[in-house]
Amino acid sequence: MEQKTVPYIKDQKGKKKLTMLTAYDYIMASILDEQDVDMILVGDSVGTTVLGYPNTIPVTIEEMIHHTKAVVKATKNALVIIDMPFMSYQESVEQAKGNAGRMMKESLASAVKLEGGQNMKDTIKAIVDIDIPVMGHVGLTPQSIHRMGGYKVQGKGKEAERLIQDALAIEEAGAFCVVLECVPRDLAKEITGMLKIPTIGIGAGPDCDGQVLVIYDLLGLSGDFRPKFVKRYANLKDEISKAVKTYIEEVKEGTFPDDSHSFH
Ligand code: KIV
Repeated sequence: MEQKTVPYIKDQKGKKKLTMLTAYDYIMASILDEQDVDMILVGDSVGTTVLGYPNTIPVTIEEMIHHTKAVVKATKNALVIIDMPFMSYQESVEQAKGNAGRMMKESLASAVKLEGGQNMKDTIKAIVDIDIPVMGHVGLTPQSIHRMGGYKVQGKGKEAERLIQDALAIEEAGAFCVVLECVPRDLAKEITGMLKIPTIGIGAGPDCDGQVLVIYDLLGLSGDFRPKFVKRYANLKDEISKAVKTYIEEVKEGTFPDDSHSFH
């Protein structure tokens, strides 16, 4: 398996489809890495998936570092990217540089991701200028949920031009890659054709340079949360429930542990 670096990811545009998945812990990251996923994103979706928050707004820098350290320890080949949480980069360019540096130093991730387009151009450039690779994220940006009024498709109709300008701004600022979240398929295709850096889609159709999913959505561990763009490749919630139910029954009826699980 090839070690995935930032230059490697940039170089894959037009050559092969890139794969990215989220992970937040050691075991899951080691499974994804063994399957040769290109990138593991420790997304601030850790807030809603693992920490039980209603959205990603409350996630802290400390929480991101804590989870990313575990993922980095488990990862041999994939590129690990740490998400910058809400208000860790929006205050000023200096704040963003300081926090990006701290997150890289303490987590040992290889790149940061942050949300925003033209409004984040100077911030991305400043972080890239101190040699920290940045992945951009435009379209549906969950940290802006209150401005957007919910998790809605972005870039429809007249909004499309603004989204194109956002993606171009991120590329000009020096980002190595950009996530396009919940944008119409044709627009994602157009942006992918315009940019020299790879686009990674989620709810953006099949024409991006790569795809990302939240691992719990792919595995069927997200309960009733089932947006149109998610494909469930397994139904682990049912599998886990069945296993736990059987365990409880066996302990109660005295069939587990039996002699084969005992020491003599
Ligand atoms: O936080 C996250 O998991 C993300 C992906 C959905 C792109 O930003």
